Amino acid sequence: MPLPLFQQSTSSPGIAGVRTILAIAAGKGGVGKSSVTVNLGLALKNLGYQVGIMDTDIYGPSVRKMLPEDRLPTQKESVIQPALCGGIKMISMAYFRKEHEAAAVRAPIANGLITQFIKNVEWGVLDFLLIDFPPGTGDVQITLSQQARLTGALMVTTPQEISLLDVRKAMSLFEQVKVPVLGIIENMSYYQISEQAEPVYLFGRGGGERLARQSGVPLLGQIPLDPLLCTCGDQGQSLFSQDPHYQRPVTRAFQQLAQQMIEHLAVFQTEQQQGLGSFELIWKEMVTA
Ligand SMILES: Nc1ncnc2c1ncn2[C@@H]1O[C@H](COP(=O)(O)OP(=O)(O)O)[C@@H](O)[C@H]1O
Ligand SMILES: [Mg+2]
Repeated sequence: MPLPLFQQSTSSPGIAGVRTILAIAAGKGGVGKSSVTVNLGLALKNLGYQVGIMDTDIYGPSVRKMLPEDRLPTQKESVIQPALCGGIKMISMAYFRKEHEAAAVRAPIANGLITQFIKNVEWGVLDFLLIDFPPGTGDVQITLSQQARLTGALMVTTPQEISLLDVRKAMSLFEQVKVPVLGIIENMSYYQISEQAEPVYLFGRGGGERLARQSGVPLLGQIPLDPLLCTCGDQGQSLFSQDPHYQRPVTRAFQQLAQQMIEHLAVFQTEQQQGLGSFELIWKEMVTA
Protein backbone atom coordinates (compact mmCIF):
# COMPACT_ATOMS: atom_id res chain seq x y z
CA MET A 1 0.00 0.00 0.00
CA PRO A 2 1.43 3.44 -0.83
CA LEU A 3 2.34 5.53 2.17
CA PRO A 4 0.10 8.41 3.17
CA LEU A 5 1.49 11.83 2.31
CA PHE A 6 1.58 13.32 5.80
CA GLN A 7 5.33 13.38 6.05
CA GLN A 8 6.26 17.02 5.63
CA SER A 9 5.88 19.48 8.47
CA THR A 10 4.08 22.59 7.25
CA SER A 11 3.25 24.02 10.63
CA SER A 12 3.69 27.73 9.83
CA PRO A 13 1.17 28.96 7.28
CA GLY A 14 2.52 31.55 4.87
CA ILE A 15 -0.27 34.15 4.97
CA ALA A 16 -0.40 36.46 7.98
CA GLY A 17 -3.40 35.95 10.26
CA VAL A 18 -4.56 32.76 8.55
CA ARG A 19 -4.48 29.62 10.67
CA THR A 20 -5.19 26.93 8.11
CA ILE A 21 -4.69 27.15 4.36
CA LEU A 22 -6.26 24.41 2.32
CA ALA A 23 -6.04 23.76 -1.41
CA ILE A 24 -9.21 22.41 -2.97
CA ALA A 25 -7.89 20.63 -6.02
CA ALA A 26 -8.74 18.10 -8.69
CA GLY A 27 -7.10 16.80 -11.79
CA LYS A 28 -9.75 18.03 -14.15
CA GLY A 29 -12.36 20.74 -14.50
CA GLY A 30 -16.08 20.22 -14.03
CA VAL A 31 -15.88 17.78 -11.09
CA GLY A 32 -17.13 20.38 -8.60
CA LYS A 33 -14.04 22.03 -7.09
CA SER A 34 -15.64 25.45 -6.98
CA SER A 35 -18.97 24.08 -5.71
CA VAL A 36 -17.14 22.18 -2.97
CA THR A 37 -15.00 25.21 -2.08
CA VAL A 38 -18.04 27.47 -1.75
CA ASN A 39 -20.24 25.04 0.18
CA LEU A 40 -17.50 23.73 2.44
CA GLY A 41 -16.74 27.40 3.16
CA LEU A 42 -20.38 28.08 4.03
CA ALA A 43 -20.56 24.96 6.20
CA LEU A 44 -17.43 26.04 8.12
CA LYS A 45 -18.89 29.52 8.56
CA ASN A 46 -22.08 27.89 9.93
CA LEU A 47 -19.92 26.15 12.51
CA GLY A 48 -18.69 29.56 13.65
CA TYR A 49 -15.34 29.78 11.85
CA GLN A 50 -13.91 32.79 10.02
CA VAL A 51 -13.52 31.72 6.41
CA GLY A 52 -11.85 33.14 3.31
CA ILE A 53 -11.83 31.87 -0.27
CA MET A 54 -9.10 32.55 -2.82
CA ASP A 55 -10.28 31.72 -6.32
CA THR A 56 -7.11 31.06 -8.28
CA ASP A 57 -8.75 29.74 -11.41
CA ILE A 58 -7.31 32.56 -13.55
CA TYR A 59 -8.92 31.34 -16.77
CA GLY A 60 -12.35 30.38 -15.41
CA PRO A 61 -13.01 32.10 -12.06
CA SER A 62 -16.53 31.12 -11.02
CA VAL A 63 -16.65 31.52 -7.25
CA ARG A 64 -17.71 35.18 -7.42
CA LYS A 65 -20.91 34.19 -9.26
CA MET A 66 -21.70 31.43 -6.78
CA LEU A 67 -22.08 33.50 -3.60
CA PRO A 68 -24.16 36.54 -2.62
CA GLU A 69 -21.96 39.65 -2.74
CA ASP A 70 -22.10 41.81 0.40
CA ARG A 71 -19.08 44.02 -0.32
CA LEU A 72 -16.70 44.50 -3.25
CA PRO A 73 -12.94 44.28 -2.77
CA THR A 74 -10.91 47.48 -2.56
CA GLN A 75 -7.32 48.23 -3.40
CA LYS A 76 -5.04 50.90 -1.96
CA GLU A 77 -1.67 50.97 -3.64
CA SER A 78 -0.61 47.33 -3.58
CA VAL A 79 -2.81 46.27 -0.64
CA ILE A 80 -6.07 44.52 -1.49
CA GLN A 81 -9.00 44.20 0.93
CA PRO A 82 -10.99 41.11 -0.02
CA ALA A 83 -14.67 41.15 -1.00
CA LEU A 84 -17.25 39.85 1.45
CA CYS A 85 -19.61 37.24 -0.01
CA GLY A 86 -22.24 35.61 2.17
CA GLY A 87 -20.07 36.36 5.20
CA ILE A 88 -16.99 34.83 3.55
CA LYS A 89 -13.97 36.93 2.58
CA MET A 90 -13.12 36.38 -1.05
CA ILE A 91 -10.67 37.32 -3.74
CA SER A 92 -10.91 36.23 -7.34
CA MET A 93 -9.55 37.07 -10.76
CA ALA A 94 -13.19 37.82 -11.59
CA TYR A 95 -12.73 41.18 -9.81
CA PHE A 96 -9.88 42.16 -12.10
CA ARG A 97 -11.64 41.94 -15.45
CA LYS A 98 -15.09 42.18 -17.01
CA GLU A 99 -17.42 39.18 -16.63
CA HIS A 100 -17.44 38.05 -20.27
CA GLU A 101 -13.87 39.03 -21.10
CA ALA A 102 -11.65 35.99 -21.66
CA ALA A 103 -8.43 35.95 -19.67
CA ALA A 104 -5.63 35.98 -22.24
CA VAL A 105 -2.92 35.58 -19.65
CA ARG A 106 0.40 33.92 -20.29
CA ALA A 107 1.94 31.74 -17.61
CA PRO A 108 4.45 34.29 -16.17
CA ILE A 109 1.69 36.90 -15.80
CA ALA A 110 -0.64 34.32 -14.24
CA ASN A 111 2.09 33.50 -11.75
CA GLY A 112 2.52 37.20 -10.97
CA LEU A 113 -1.20 37.55 -10.29
CA ILE A 114 -1.20 34.54 -8.02
CA THR A 115 1.81 35.91 -6.14
CA GLN A 116 -0.14 39.17 -5.64
CA PHE A 117 -3.09 37.19 -4.26
CA ILE A 118 -0.78 35.44 -1.83
CA LYS A 119 1.22 38.45 -0.71
CA ASN A 120 -1.01 41.52 -1.02
CA VAL A 121 -4.45 40.53 0.27
CA GLU A 122 -5.20 41.60 3.83
CA TRP A 123 -7.37 38.77 5.10
CA GLY A 124 -7.40 39.80 8.74
CA VAL A 125 -7.82 36.86 11.12
CA LEU A 126 -9.10 33.71 9.41
CA ASP A 127 -9.52 30.17 10.70
CA PHE A 128 -9.63 28.76 7.19
CA LEU A 129 -8.52 30.01 3.81
CA LEU A 130 -9.82 27.72 1.07
CA ILE A 131 -7.94 28.02 -2.21
CA ASP A 132 -9.95 26.95 -5.24
CA PHE A 133 -7.13 25.55 -7.38
CA PRO A 134 -7.18 25.68 -11.16
CA PRO A 135 -7.57 22.25 -12.80
CA GLY A 136 -4.48 20.30 -13.81
CA THR A 137 -0.88 20.31 -12.68
CA GLY A 138 0.66 23.39 -14.31
CA ASP A 139 2.76 26.38 -13.40
CA VAL A 140 0.16 28.21 -11.28
CA GLN A 141 -0.47 25.09 -9.19
CA ILE A 142 3.25 24.75 -8.48
CA THR A 143 3.60 28.46 -7.58
CA LEU A 144 0.67 28.18 -5.19
CA SER A 145 1.96 25.02 -3.58
CA GLN A 146 5.38 26.54 -3.07
CA GLN A 147 4.46 30.09 -2.03
CA ALA A 148 1.22 29.83 -0.08
CA ARG A 149 2.67 27.39 2.51
CA LEU A 150 -0.41 25.23 2.33
CA THR A 151 -1.45 23.32 5.42
CA GLY A 152 -2.67 20.62 3.06
CA ALA A 153 -4.81 19.73 0.07
CA LEU A 154 -8.29 18.29 -0.28
CA MET A 155 -8.85 16.40 -3.52
CA VAL A 156 -12.20 16.51 -5.29
CA THR A 157 -13.17 13.71 -7.62
CA THR A 158 -16.27 12.13 -9.08
CA PRO A 159 -16.57 8.33 -8.78
CA GLN A 160 -15.69 8.01 -12.47
CA GLU A 161 -12.39 6.36 -13.45
CA ILE A 162 -11.34 9.23 -15.76
CA SER A 163 -11.67 11.69 -12.88
CA LEU A 164 -9.80 9.36 -10.52
CA LEU A 165 -6.98 9.02 -13.01
CA ASP A 166 -6.50 12.79 -13.15
CA VAL A 167 -6.83 13.26 -9.41
CA ARG A 168 -4.03 10.72 -8.87
CA LYS A 169 -1.78 12.91 -11.05
CA ALA A 170 -2.70 16.00 -9.01
CA MET A 171 -1.97 14.07 -5.80
CA SER A 172 1.44 13.18 -7.11
CA LEU A 173 2.13 16.87 -7.81
CA PHE A 174 1.38 17.68 -4.16
CA GLU A 175 3.61 14.83 -3.10
CA GLN A 176 6.45 16.27 -5.18
CA VAL A 177 6.10 19.75 -3.67
CA LYS A 178 5.72 18.25 -0.15
CA VAL A 179 2.16 19.36 0.51
CA PRO A 180 0.24 16.76 2.53
CA VAL A 181 -2.96 15.50 0.94
CA LEU A 182 -5.41 15.55 3.85
CA GLY A 183 -8.50 14.02 2.35
CA ILE A 184 -10.58 13.01 -0.63
CA ILE A 185 -14.04 14.39 -1.36
CA GLU A 186 -16.23 12.43 -3.73
CA ASN A 187 -18.68 14.70 -5.51
CA MET A 188 -21.68 13.71 -7.66
CA SER A 189 -21.64 10.37 -5.80
CA TYR A 190 -25.28 9.49 -6.49
CA TYR A 191 -28.68 10.93 -7.30
CA GLN A 192 -31.96 10.35 -5.47
CA ILE A 193 -35.20 11.67 -6.85
CA SER A 194 -36.58 11.65 -3.29
CA GLU A 195 -35.11 10.56 0.04
CA GLN A 196 -37.18 7.37 -0.08
CA ALA A 197 -36.04 6.49 -3.61
CA GLU A 198 -33.13 4.16 -4.39
CA PRO A 199 -29.92 6.09 -5.11
CA VAL A 200 -28.78 6.02 -8.73
CA TYR A 201 -25.01 5.93 -9.24
CA LEU A 202 -24.77 7.96 -12.42
CA PHE A 203 -20.98 8.14 -12.53
CA GLY A 204 -20.20 4.71 -11.10
CA ARG A 205 -19.91 3.62 -7.51
CA GLY A 206 -17.13 3.38 -4.96
CA GLY A 207 -14.47 5.37 -6.85
CA GLY A 208 -13.69 7.67 -3.91
CA GLU A 209 -13.41 4.72 -1.52
CA ARG A 210 -11.12 2.88 -3.89
CA LEU A 211 -8.85 5.91 -4.24
CA ALA A 212 -8.78 6.32 -0.46
CA ARG A 213 -7.81 2.68 0.04
CA GLN A 214 -5.11 2.80 -2.61
CA SER A 215 -3.57 6.08 -1.51
CA GLY A 216 -4.01 5.82 2.27
CA VAL A 217 -5.75 9.22 2.27
CA PRO A 218 -9.16 9.26 4.02
CA LEU A 219 -12.42 9.78 2.18
CA LEU A 220 -13.91 12.76 4.05
CA GLY A 221 -17.27 12.99 2.34
CA GLN A 222 -19.61 11.90 -0.44
CA ILE A 223 -21.72 14.67 -1.93
CA PRO A 224 -24.87 13.69 -3.87
CA LEU A 225 -26.02 15.35 -7.06
CA ASP A 226 -28.76 17.85 -6.35
CA PRO A 227 -30.22 20.40 -8.77
CA LEU A 228 -30.56 22.84 -5.85
CA LEU A 229 -26.77 23.05 -5.62
CA CYS A 230 -26.68 23.95 -9.31
CA THR A 231 -29.38 26.62 -9.00
CA CYS A 232 -27.80 28.13 -5.90
CA GLY A 233 -24.45 28.31 -7.71
CA ASP A 234 -25.97 29.90 -10.80
CA GLN A 235 -27.99 32.44 -8.83
CA GLY A 236 -25.35 33.38 -6.28
CA GLN A 237 -27.36 32.02 -3.37
CA SER A 238 -26.18 30.12 -0.34
CA LEU A 239 -27.33 26.48 -0.24
CA PHE A 240 -27.69 26.87 3.52
CA SER A 241 -30.02 29.84 3.22
CA GLN A 242 -32.16 27.90 0.71
CA ASP A 243 -32.25 24.80 2.94
CA PRO A 244 -31.86 26.25 6.45
CA HIS A 245 -33.16 23.14 8.21
CA TYR A 246 -30.84 20.73 6.43
CA GLN A 247 -33.71 18.87 4.83
CA ARG A 248 -31.75 17.84 1.79
CA PRO A 249 -29.02 15.18 1.79
CA VAL A 250 -26.68 17.54 -0.11
CA THR A 251 -26.82 20.19 2.65
CA ARG A 252 -26.25 17.55 5.34
CA ALA A 253 -23.39 16.07 3.31
CA PHE A 254 -21.57 19.42 3.28
CA GLN A 255 -22.11 19.97 7.00
CA GLN A 256 -20.80 16.46 7.76
CA LEU A 257 -17.87 17.04 5.42
CA ALA A 258 -16.91 20.19 7.35
CA GLN A 259 -17.07 18.30 10.66
CA GLN A 260 -15.11 15.32 9.35
CA MET A 261 -12.49 17.65 7.90
CA ILE A 262 -12.06 19.51 11.20
CA GLU A 263 -11.73 16.26 13.17
CA HIS A 264 -9.21 14.88 10.75
CA LEU A 265 -7.25 18.14 10.67
CA ALA A 266 -7.07 18.19 14.47
CA VAL A 267 -5.52 14.70 14.49
CA PHE A 268 -3.13 15.67 11.70
CA GLN A 269 -2.02 18.88 13.42
CA THR A 270 -1.50 17.12 16.75
CA GLU A 271 0.70 14.58 15.00
CA GLN A 272 2.61 17.39 13.32
CA GLN A 273 3.14 19.21 16.63
CA GLN A 274 4.39 16.04 18.22
CA GLY A 275 6.69 15.60 15.25
CA LEU A 276 4.96 12.36 14.39
CA GLY A 277 3.73 12.19 10.81
CA SER A 278 1.54 9.21 9.91
CA PHE A 279 4.59 7.67 8.33
CA GLU A 280 6.32 7.49 11.69
CA LEU A 281 3.11 6.32 13.39
CA ILE A 282 2.65 3.48 10.90
CA TRP A 283 6.31 2.58 11.26
CA LYS A 284 6.00 2.59 15.07
CA GLU A 285 2.93 0.37 14.88
CA MET A 286 4.81 -2.00 12.59
CA VAL A 287 7.82 -2.36 14.85
CA THR A 288 5.74 -2.73 18.02
CA ALA A 289 3.29 -5.23 16.46
N1 LIG B 1 -23.19 17.84 -6.23
C1 LIG B 1 -23.63 18.51 -7.29
N2 LIG B 1 -24.95 18.49 -7.63
C2 LIG B 1 -25.40 19.17 -8.72
N3 LIG B 1 -24.63 19.92 -9.51
C3 LIG B 1 -23.31 19.99 -9.22
C4 LIG B 1 -22.74 19.32 -8.10
N4 LIG B 1 -21.42 19.61 -8.06
C5 LIG B 1 -21.17 20.42 -9.10
N5 LIG B 1 -22.31 20.67 -9.81
C6 LIG B 1 -22.44 21.46 -11.03
O1 LIG B 1 -21.46 20.98 -11.95
C7 LIG B 1 -20.87 22.05 -12.66
C8 LIG B 1 -19.35 22.06 -12.44
O2 LIG B 1 -19.08 22.36 -11.08
P1 LIG B 1 -17.91 23.34 -10.65
O3 LIG B 1 -17.98 23.45 -9.17
O4 LIG B 1 -17.95 24.60 -11.45
O5 LIG B 1 -16.65 22.45 -11.08
P2 LIG B 1 -15.10 22.83 -11.21
O6 LIG B 1 -14.82 24.00 -10.34
O7 LIG B 1 -14.38 21.58 -10.77
O8 LIG B 1 -14.86 23.11 -12.66
C9 LIG B 1 -21.56 23.33 -12.18
O9 LIG B 1 -22.57 23.63 -13.06
C10 LIG B 1 -22.13 22.93 -10.81
O10 LIG B 1 -23.29 23.65 -10.49
MG1 LIG C 1 -14.11 25.95 -10.88
